[in-house]
Amino acid sequence: MNIVKCSLVVLAMIAAPAFAARPVSISIDAGKPGPVINKNVYGQFAEHLGTGVYEGMWVGPKSTIPNTRGWRNDVVGALKALHVPLVRWPGGCFADTYHWRDGIGPQHQRPSNVHANGSVDEFNAVGTHEFFDLIEMLGAEAYVNGNVGTGSVQEMADWIEYMTADGGSPLARLRARNGREKPFKVAYFGIGNELWGCGGNMKPEYYASLYSNYEHFLRAPAQSRPKMIASGNDTVWTEVLSKELKDRTAGISIHQYTVPTGNWDVKGKDLGFKEDEWISTLANTMKMDQMIKDHVAVLDRNDPNKTIGLMIDEWGTWYDEAAGRSALFQQNSLRDALVAALNFNIFHRHAERVPMTTIAQMVNVLQAMILTDKEKMVLTPTYYAFQMYVPFQDAESLPLAIKDNTSYTLGTVTIPGVSASAARARDGKLYLALVNTDPSRAVDVAVDVAGTKLQGAAGKVLTAAAMDAHNTFQHPQAIGPAPFSTRAAGGKLSIKVPAKAVMVVALEK
Ligand code: AHR
Repeated sequence: MNIVKCSLVVLAMIAAPAFAARPVSISIDAGKPGPVINKNVYGQFAEHLGTGVYEGMWVGPKSTIPNTRGWRNDVVGALKALHVPLVRWPGGCFADTYHWRDGIGPQHQRPSNVHANGSVDEFNAVGTHEFFDLIEMLGAEAYVNGNVGTGSVQEMADWIEYMTADGGSPLARLRARNGREKPFKVAYFGIGNELWGCGGNMKPEYYASLYSNYEHFLRAPAQSRPKMIASGNDTVWTEVLSKELKDRTAGISIHQYTVPTGNWDVKGKDLGFKEDEWISTLANTMKMDQMIKDHVAVLDRNDPNKTIGLMIDEWGTWYDEAAGRSALFQQNSLRDALVAALNFNIFHRHAERVPMTTIAQMVNVLQAMILTDKEKMVLTPTYYAFQMYVPFQDAESLPLAIKDNTSYTLGTVTIPGVSASAARARDGKLYLALVNTDPSRAVDVAVDVAGTKLQGAAGKVLTAAAMDAHNTFQHPQAIGPAPFSTRAAGGKLSIKVPAKAVMVVALEK
């Protein structure tokens, strides 16, 4: 189905009388703006894993696939259109065994090596310079993740110097000899990854001491010193790290994946699932809210001045791997778009403490924006959810109250029917994001902005007939956002949100 047909389906679904409207009311207080939603909340993660970097993004300058210095033009173009603000690289667990010196200098002289995750025969064609080439093409910020697991303080200190030092330093001169005179700009630097697991099976107290040691020697010119990020885990880790690392860290990173069944041994399929896994996936992803609250409670105690952010630098769906695909490749359906949007609404609510997140991952791995197969590329429903939410980047969050929310129940699981968030964007407009979690029933939402007479709303809606609607290389436009608009009547604005939908609209005064 193409996007035009898809729009007709959306109109039909909105108009269908079988879906009884239920009154949900949303009140927005535009006079009391909350914290700014940092654009980096919409960050991405690109790990050397499966075909996430090689094939998916990097094909090399000699490839017949059109590319710019090795990076695929189609993928870079699509990511630019997505306004990707930040990219975390090179891992993940890959970072725990990555030695940056393997990835500099003439490409044909770089060594090949197999990394601990076993999934990549790494030939180091993509290293520091290539990563920053991508970042600069995208106009994004860089979040580089260092190696504590198998690295050393000296190796990490050298990498920071190599990337950030001005002309005089020996490593800056080496960088210049490798083709880059000007320092690279590193916005964030992660000191290790998952130290509780693949990063070295450590205890939080041990890592806290190790972090202090590393951080002490990571020198960069004051104006270009990256924000240093400590790698966390549960609230026990946050307790220890926020007490021990005050003034030494800009944030503690947390990884929170959504597994449909909640069971890591049998996670659930990417497609062809039944409604019980639709609701359990959405219910599980909504646990993000409580998880953030639990960590924020610890941070508020130990860091009342709010200098430490909670960086959710791995999140998204994780399904069972299907045979014959590259590592952690999974299809991506309408369900994933709802997962993304539900999380965005949660992140907006916690804008004060959550200045950055990076979804896992950008291309071909887990909940990806883009899937590729040789020269073919397809945009996923998650891509479209990110695109619809672009106005929320660096927008002022606005307090919003939902009254008479519906609920959606299946068996023993009940979740809220409507999730929403609102913000005043940089273009001055008020935006409202709505998610209807119910896969069968549309919902009427009455919208009110204190002190304002709303005339209408216009934007985009993403929905489809099937819960697992998705784009394939054969049918790349089966699902995509459709235009939506509505007018106020009798001085009241009511928005009908179709079943299983994500909607983002600008409110018209
Ligand atoms: O995103 C895939 C993997 O999940 C990352 O390498 C690791 O940090 C996490 O466990």
